[in-house]
Amino acid sequence: MRVLITGGLGFIGTQLCRSLTRAGHDVVIVDSMTVQVHGDTPSIVLPDGATLVRLDVRNIHEQADLLCGVDIVYHLAAETGTAQSMYQIQRYVDVNERGTAALLESIARCTNRPRKVILTSSRSVYGEGAFIDAAGAIVQPAPRTREQLDANHWEPRDATGVPLRAIATPETLPFAPGSIYAATKASQELLLNAASQALNFDAITLRLQNVYGAGQSLQNPYTGIISIFFNRARQGLMLPIYEDGKETRDFVHVEDVVAGLMAAMTNDVPSGTICNIGSGIATPVNELARQLLRAAGLDVPIKVTGQFRVGDIRHNFADISRARALLGFMPQVSLADGLARFCAWAKSEPVYADGLDKATAELKAKGLAN
Ligand SMILES: NC(=O)c1ccc[n+]([C@@H]2O[C@H](COP(=O)([O-])OP(=O)(O)OC[C@H]3O[C@@H](n4cnc5c(N)ncnc54)[C@H](O)[C@@H]3O)[C@@H](O)[C@H]2O)c1
Repeated sequence: MRVLITGGLGFIGTQLCRSLTRAGHDVVIVDSMTVQVHGDTPSIVLPDGATLVRLDVRNIHEQADLLCGVDIVYHLAAETGTAQSMYQIQRYVDVNERGTAALLESIARCTNRPRKVILTSSRSVYGEGAFIDAAGAIVQPAPRTREQLDANHWEPRDATGVPLRAIATPETLPFAPGSIYAATKASQELLLNAASQALNFDAITLRLQNVYGAGQSLQNPYTGIISIFFNRARQGLMLPIYEDGKETRDFVHVEDVVAGLMAAMTNDVPSGTICNIGSGIATPVNELARQLLRAAGLDVPIKVTGQFRVGDIRHNFADISRARALLGFMPQVSLADGLARFCAWAKSEPVYADGLDKATAELKAKGLAN
């Protein structure tokens, strides 16, 4: 089959491209090679069977023949930093929403259209996600306010001030984006689903959790906690843990994510299907830092700073039962194994200047962090 991947030179796109070419598919990558992800002097090695079109996805409709004859489209190209999206608002909306619009318009201009478009959305569309209250009801708390965070009230609470308990977030939870990034991902989903009905192609959306693994950018200080922490630890810098360190994330290995993406192509699921892709396990961030240092064989202080970022969620882990049922999705890589593999790869990479302090200073200057 002929497969087009937007953002195919990125972390997930690279691994997806490898998997597709290994399976014998022809792959066309459309990627603008942004400096934030690839640095100033990117070194690109494409697998056999893949070709690269260096192009901004926002201009893809001007090369509509790129899409003609393509069977499957994976739409990955995006700006991905949650905190950065809170002040580079135009850039995030422009790339993520107008980029999706341009892709859909180029499909509309094709006579032989792709039969399926698979979007990598994000768990961030749920905002704080699913919790349970004292009466056992499922609730979706509003984003924590600046006042709550200033008072170190980290846990989302009910109206009487009682902390709520996080549960696995199902796809049935409505959109409640707490960041511009999240809002653009929700918008991408809506645009895709509306276009698929009108233009008669299948739309599949995978809502990814925190993806990690070899090949993750070690240069981007705006996203990817494992890369950022590894890069700091290697330079003897302490690991700053926001809030009280008990906030949780669902870390899913890129190999498992690629398996989910491949299944979304091959499995016959109804158009409009939305599936969470994660490990289904909540890992506290302070525990993540400990496990990472152990896997890396590095020893630097882990410092719970009490810092926070406006727009961050408190807890997150995915209900992956739908992906299991529809895609046969079963995460295979444990966090311990995945971190060991990540560290083995990352140690062979250059050491990059740490950008976290600069990124944090940018947020503070805009009142988006304490
Ligand atoms: N990595 C995660 O943890 C995670 C979690 C949830 C969702 N996602 C989604 O998965 C997708 C891929 O994420 P990733 O981690 O591989 O990101 P990445 O930043 O590593 O890769 C993104 C790629 O898109 C390219 N790109 C950016 N803007 C572009 C534009 N205007 N035109 C063409 N190419 C452009 C970049 O050059 C890069 O190669 C994104 O849509 C992201 O929102 C990722």
